[in-house]
Amino acid sequence: MELTKAEEAVLNGEKGEGMQKAMELVTALGKIYGAENLVDITSAHLSGASYKTIGDGGLKYLEDMAAGNARVSVPSTLNPVGMDRTRWKEMHISEDFAVKQLRIIELYGKMGVKTTCSCTPYTGANVPAAGDHVAWAESSALSFVNSYIGARTNREGGPGALAAAILGKTANYGLHLDENRKPTVVVEAETDGSIFSYSLLGQAVGKTIGSGIPYFKGIKPGLEEAKALSAAMAASGSVALYHVAGVTPEAGKYDVSGLETIHIGKKELDKAYGELNVADDVELIAIGCPHLTEKEMNQIAAFLKGKKKVRKDIEIWFCTSAEIREKCSEAVKIMEEFGPVLADTCMVVAPIEKTFSRTGTNSAKAGNYLPTLCSQKAQCRDISALLGAVM
Ligand code: F3S
Repeated sequence: MELTKAEEAVLNGEKGEGMQKAMELVTALGKIYGAENLVDITSAHLSGASYKTIGDGGLKYLEDMAAGNARVSVPSTLNPVGMDRTRWKEMHISEDFAVKQLRIIELYGKMGVKTTCSCTPYTGANVPAAGDHVAWAESSALSFVNSYIGARTNREGGPGALAAAILGKTANYGLHLDENRKPTVVVEAETDGSIFSYSLLGQAVGKTIGSGIPYFKGIKPGLEEAKALSAAMAASGSVALYHVAGVTPEAGKYDVSGLETIHIGKKELDKAYGELNVADDVELIAIGCPHLTEKEMNQIAAFLKGKKKVRKDIEIWFCTSAEIREKCSEAVKIMEEFGPVLADTCMVVAPIEKTFSRTGTNSAKAGNYLPTLCSQKAQCRDISALLGAVM
């Protein structure tokens, strides 16, 4: 891989240990994936923020990076952590977990990362422009910015995204290059237009194509629908980029007439629903994967207004960013009659398995991860069905 003189100097340790470690990691990844050079990035989004997922080893890595004076050099945001940083007792979090989680947030803050702790930074805290090269981890968010915004990122892991954030550069391969962004399959899709049906569509497509680049016809997602679609396809498959005719920025560039076409309609969505619904009854209902937007918060509040929670044995969590929670104070008041509106966290990266064994969600992404990462029997239904069952 060709490095400039300045990049060589970083690799040789002339800019300090933190920068050197970051350069070692980014160039090692570049060599593995055949990058010819590095490319400047305009922002990063980092995962590896929950103490549940990174453990003491990850905490030690962050301590070392911060001690080596590593600092991010481009605007960088952080994924959800294992708890709401002020309301963690309501989530049954232990004191020991809380102390370590707060230390992780502090260390990221020391490195200059904006500790917004949300998986939807593209709604406010970190919004790339079309054509920007960025280094984003968090599979749902990176797919959203690649596809809906037209920025360019690979599917970064936590350490790779942090290293790129420190350098302000990433290895130039994969989805940074035009030739790797072409669609590989056409998907003629049918939904009922609801956000939940986009989640099921993502589940079905991810399962069917795995890691390809779908080109959708027949749908017109807005932000919330694209958020659900991105998350589900990244979880059931490993889709990091898709195009939607007439919606996504690059879609018009491609001639897809020679590509294989698959059809995903009601039958496939019903099958996806069946796969995701294992539990008949639940102990926790967790909504907000990816984090709820302002529009979704207001829709949920409108649905709940004037209703009463009868099933006291079921806990309800609503997950969003601190920014959105603050913006939606009226909606929050109504929602909190049913359960806490939690910021900075989610049902997958919080240690819910210590308290619950059956969880309901409206997200296919959470429906995939609740059994594997949280030992839950999952139920996956739309919001009105989930909340209707507690009234
Ligand atoms: Fe976000 Fe957690 Fe879902 S990080 S995408 S709410 S699994």
